[in-house]
This record gives sequence, structure tokens and C-alpha cells, in this order.
Amino acid sequence: MGTPDVLRLVTAATTTALLATLAAACAARDDWAPEALLLGDVSVSRHEIERGRQVYAEYCVGCHGARGDGRGPAARMLEPPPRDFTKGIFKFAGVPSGTLPHDEDLERIIARGLFPSAMPDFPLLDAADRRAVVQYLKTFSPRWASSRPGARIVPTDDPFADDDAGGIQRGRHLYHGIAECWSCHPSYASRAEISAFARTDGRTVDSFRDAMFAPVPKPSDWGFDIVPPDFPVEGVKSGSSLEDLYRTIASGVGGTAMPTWRESLPENDIWALVHYVRSLVVMDRATLARLRRTIGAPAHSTAAVSAPPAARPDLTPPSPHERGELAENP
Ligand code: HEC
Ligand code: HEC
Repeated sequence: MGTPDVLRLVTAATTTALLATLAAACAARDDWAPEALLLGDVSVSRHEIERGRQVYAEYCVGCHGARGDGRGPAARMLEPPPRDFTKGIFKFAGVPSGTLPHDEDLERIIARGLFPSAMPDFPLLDAADRRAVVQYLKTFSPRWASSRPGARIVPTDDPFADDDAGGIQRGRHLYHGIAECWSCHPSYASRAEISAFARTDGRTVDSFRDAMFAPVPKPSDWGFDIVPPDFPVEGVKSGSSLEDLYRTIASGVGGTAMPTWRESLPENDIWALVHYVRSLVVMDRATLARLRRTIGAPAHSTAAVSAPPAARPDLTPPSPHERGELAENP
């Protein structure tokens, strides 16, 4: 099948999906007004959904698919695959894992992308277009007609703002001794250190998993395994500033094994972990090689995912910047 056929099909199928969803939402709601639809906690005009459909058809359909099921023509080649919007489950929202995101979470993700996954950034997409496409992608899942977004997880004051080293030290202890982040993510401490951390807290570690210096693939709500990142090697997808990491660690990663930590750890400890994970994300290669030697880890990570950023397609719309009015390329 040639590309034009695919595009025609895609447009037709998208329109059909939209009409079906509108009809379903209409049937489900008593106070249905033809000109607006309630999606999450936002009332959205038909006009805005139509605008979102056009943005989606231009920039998103190739990966996320005409039905929003994550099965666009490019999806086969992508690891992890594009999000299936029909399930209404999202990973990187600033809400407790498993609850629906707020519009600004989705808008942030669309503007910034999720490197090193294939999800591109769309910084040049107009704010109104970003808002509209968010409303449109909500029409793919019935969850948005019946549920409201989760409680926002907003960063508290950082107790280690003037003491990064103290935060890192406490975070390293927590990561290995108490929270046992290394039961899924790699360990960055030796067995002897982990046992010593646990002893300080009056506990003993009964067993260490094999290959504890590599991540363990974990089941997800989408039916396939997801590999937790090896932080110094892959970095993180949803932002590496202290505030971004606070949001990710406190909220957890929806649909995956990564839990919401806000309920189970005191705020100070979440912030210590934030400082520690950040120190891993920004760690240079020489320091990582030295660390690996010290803790008895193999010289190279055996992580399964490390897509080079160069592999990501450039799908941002043409702008004055791209038309040569601005020379710099960030
Ligand atoms: C080149 C392929 C590609 C294109 C084009 C693309 N995406 Fe994605 N998108 C992905 C992949 C892959 C993921 C999954 C990343 C992951 O699971 O780590 C994703 C995830 C997402 C998510 C889920 C975020 C979360 O927290 O779960 C949203 C929302 C999203 N994309 C919106 C869009 C929108 C809107 C567009 C168009 C403006 C778009 N994407 C274009 C590949 C793409
Ligand atoms: C039960 C398994 C599990 C445990 C325990 C766990 N994680 Fe995760 N974590 C995951 C998985 C799976 C992902 C990958 C999510 C993805 O990219 O789809 C992840 C991703 C992350 C990310 C990256 C999010 C991004 O933006 O890409 C951070 C940061 C993180 N975890 C921190 C922690 C910290 C800190 C701890 C301990 C307090 C921890 N995790 C414990 C499974 C776990």
C-alpha cells in the first residue's frame, strides 16, 4: 500500500473514531450540549477538538495511530512503542501513579518530548495547538468522560537546596538501604555497602538479586515488559532538573512497576533521593567507570534500552526559526 493510501485511510479512520467517541460520550452524559464535551475536568468545544484532530493528523498519527491505539505505521520500529491512548493510562503525569493527568502535564510532555524514547519534542507547536491536541487525544479513551484528573503532586521546599552533598549522601543510603530502588533499577553500591546501610537501620538484607548492577525488566499495564533506566547511562525521560525529578519520584510512573513514593517516604527523604538520582544522571563516564570498579560491577551496563538521540525524527512544524530567521540550533 502506498503512502497516500495510508494517509487517506488514516484521515477517514480518525474522523470515524472521533464521531464514534463523540457519540459514545453524548450517550453517556445527560447534560450533553452539542457544542461542548466534558473531558477530565475541562469543558471542550467542538471547534477545539476539530483543531486538535488536525494537529494530531499532521504530527502524531504516524506513531500513535488513527485510532489512538499506538499502532501508527512507524510504531513497529519503536521501543518502547508509542502510547496507546485508548487505555487512558499515562506515565509521566504529576499525579499519583494510575490517575489521569492534568492538561498541563500532557502539554509539558508534548512540548519537551520524552528522550531517549522516540517521543519527539514539539517546542514550536503553538500553545493553542498543543492544548487542542491534548483535548483530542482524550477522546480516544472513555476514561476521560467518567473520571477526573488525580490530585496534583506539587514540589515542597527542598531541604537540601544549600546542601547538595548532604542530599546525595542521604539519598544514596535510602536508594540502597531503605527504599531498595535497586530491586528494579541497577545498584550503584557494593553488597557490603548495602548490608552496612541496612545494619545502620537495624535491618539485614537476606539476598541480593543476580545481575544487581543491571536493571530488571518489569511488567506494565500495556502487556509488555519495561526496563527501568540505568540513570548514568540513559538518563531520565521526563526531565532531569531537581523539580522534574521530584515530580517523577514522588508521583511514580503510571502503568509501570515504578510506585508513587509520596505515600511511603517522608518529604525530606524524597528530596534526598532527588539529589542522589540527579547526581547519577549527570555523572560523567570516567566517574561512572571508577564507581563500577569500586563496587565490583562489570565495566559496561547491560541495560537493554539506550536509543541514541540521533535516531529521533524531527517532526516539529516549520517556524520562523527554521525558515532561517534565527541561526542558532539549541
Ligand atoms: C516518532 C513517533 C512519535 C510521534 C510522532 C509522537 N509520539 Fe507521542 N510517544 C511516542 C512514544 C514512543 C511514546 C512512549 C514513550 C514511553 O513510553 O516512554 C509516546 C508517548 C506519548 C504520550 C504519553 C506521555 C505519558 O506520560 O504517558 C503522549 C501524551 C504523547 N506521546 C503525545 C503525542 C502527541 C500529541 C504527538 C503529536 C503532536 C505525538 N505524541 C507524536 C512516539 C511518538
Ligand atoms: C518495582 C520496580 C521499581 C522500583 C522499586 C523503583 N522503580 Fe523507578 N522505575 C521503574 C520502571 C519500570 C521505570 C521505567 C518507566 C518508563 O520509562 O517507562 C522507572 C523509572 C524511574 C525514573 C525515571 C523516570 C523518567 O523520567 O524517565 C526515576 C527517576 C526512578 N524510576 C526513580 C526511582 C527511585 C528513586 C526509586 C526508589 C525510591 C525507584 N525508582 C524504585 C521501576 C521501579
